[in-house]
Amino acid sequence: MVNSIFTNRRAVRDFSKESISDDDLKNLIVAFQTAPCGMNQTDVMNLVVVKDEGLRNKIKEKTDNACYNAPVLFVINTKKDSMFGERDASCAAENIMLAATDLGLGSVYVMGGAVRLNDAGELQKELGIDPAFQTSVIVPVGKIAEKPEETDRSNRYQVTIY
Ligand SMILES: Cc1cc2nc3c(=O)[nH]c(=O)nc-3n(C[C@H](O)[C@H](O)[C@H](O)COP(=O)(O)O)c2cc1C
Repeated sequence: MVNSIFTNRRAVRDFSKESISDDDLKNLIVAFQTAPCGMNQTDVMNLVVVKDEGLRNKIKEKTDNACYNAPVLFVINTKKDSMFGERDASCAAENIMLAATDLGLGSVYVMGGAVRLNDAGELQKELGIDPAFQTSVIVPVGKIAEKPEETDRSNRYQVTIY
């Protein structure tokens, strides 16, 4: 499977300032909406898409720029008491990242900085995040401004076949 969305995806942390098109945004939201979830509990995860520069700057400040100045942030939130939420968020993040790759856009899975948003209650309120939910993952997305790393990725993890 050479040159597929799987082989082409990379963690991208340098984005151009230019935003993404409305069509691309719609496609990325479709990718989120079609992600699998535990026991079909679709109410334990939600998405806040942040394009607004003022809000992105506030998130940048609270997360120590874990969002890498990307023009669009996909903030994935999950219900605090859900046994599936975190896993659902990972599936959804991967869907978004693969869709971004398909659209020629860059993305990265951000957990470290994302969870810092949970210490910024006022900002979460401003983002409309229900207090029963926590931010699990942020996927910054945008046009790629870095040279892709060209290392061999075909043998990164141990695989056992019986
Ligand atoms: C669970 C998880 C947490 C991650 N957290 C961060 C993070 O906080 N910040 C960041 O820049 N990248 C983060 N990453 C991205 C990884 O660093 C990246 O996926 C890894 O280095 C492999 O590179 P690749 O995505 O190009 O395959 C995270 C990825 C995963 C799956």
